[in-house]
This record gives sequence, structure tokens and C-alpha cells, in this order.
Amino acid sequence: MTEKTGILLLSHGSRLDDGEEVIKAYKEMYAEEFPEYPVEYGFMEIRKPGIPETIKKLTTENDLDKIIVVPVFVAHGLHTKRDIPSILGIESDFDAESVSGHHHHHHDHDHDHGHDHGHHHHHHHDHDEEEVEFDGEIILTDPLGIDTRLYEIIKDRVSDNL
Ligand code: NI
Repeated sequence: MTEKTGILLLSHGSRLDDGEEVIKAYKEMYAEEFPEYPVEYGFMEIRKPGIPETIKKLTTENDLDKIIVVPVFVAHGLHTKRDIPSILGIESDFDAESVSGHHHHHHDHDHDHGHDHGHHHHHHHDHDEEEVEFDGEIILTDPLGIDTRLYEIIKDRVSDNL
């Protein structure tokens, strides 16, 4: 029996369309290069489709044994360490004590991207607390991280403006 694997490319989510254009383009590139793997894109928060509905779409349209989730984020943060594993219903090695400057209120967001962070005790997560339903294996990969291929882009952005 061959194992059937689906891919989920995960973006943060924004009210603006730019992020969706980017993640959709990567999804289409992947689908074209690897037509044997069903691939979808989804968002951590703010924008639809969210993680549970994207997993549902993948598993409804395909008989999958395994899903590989790639957070298309530059670095790990609370979303990749804590929130995404929680939504996926998978183990996480997240250690709350490791969060620097973290107090025990709910506003422990570790990035700055213009969603409503205006007041304390605001729950950042507007995903619907729904967990995914999937009996197979879910693998959450590392984010993009430190890579000379990304460094090349950084250099281009600078040199284009020198
Ligand atoms: Ni966020």
C-alpha cells in the first residue's frame, strides 16, 4: 500500500491581499512541480481558509495517510511553537517559561503585524478554536529559517536600492 501525502503551506494571514497572493503563488508552483501531491494553502489567523478547514479540504478530496504542514514564516515564534501545534492537535515542545519578558496576561504576541493588539487581555487568536480532525500523521516542519537562499534575496533588496 502506498502512502498518500498531502501538503499544507501555511501563511500568517492578513486583512490585505498581498500575503495570499504570495502563498497562493508558492502553492501553485508546488502543485505544478509535484502534481502527485495534493497541496493547499491556508492561514494561521485573520484570513480564511484557516487550518482546520484547509485540512478538511485536503482530506475530503484525497484519501491521505499523512499531511506535511510547512509554516512559510521566516522564524519560529509563538504561532509556530504553540498555536499551530495546538490547532493541529499535535505535540509541541513549547515551553512557556522560555518566552522572554512574558507576563501572565494574554497579550504575549511575539510579532508585529498590525492586527489588533491595542489592549491587554485581548485574545489575539481569532481562529475558531476548532481542532483538525485527521486520523493520519501530521508533520509540522520548521519555518524557513537561516538559509543562504534567503540571504541572497536580502542582498538583492539592498543592492537594488544602492
Ligand atoms: Ni499573529
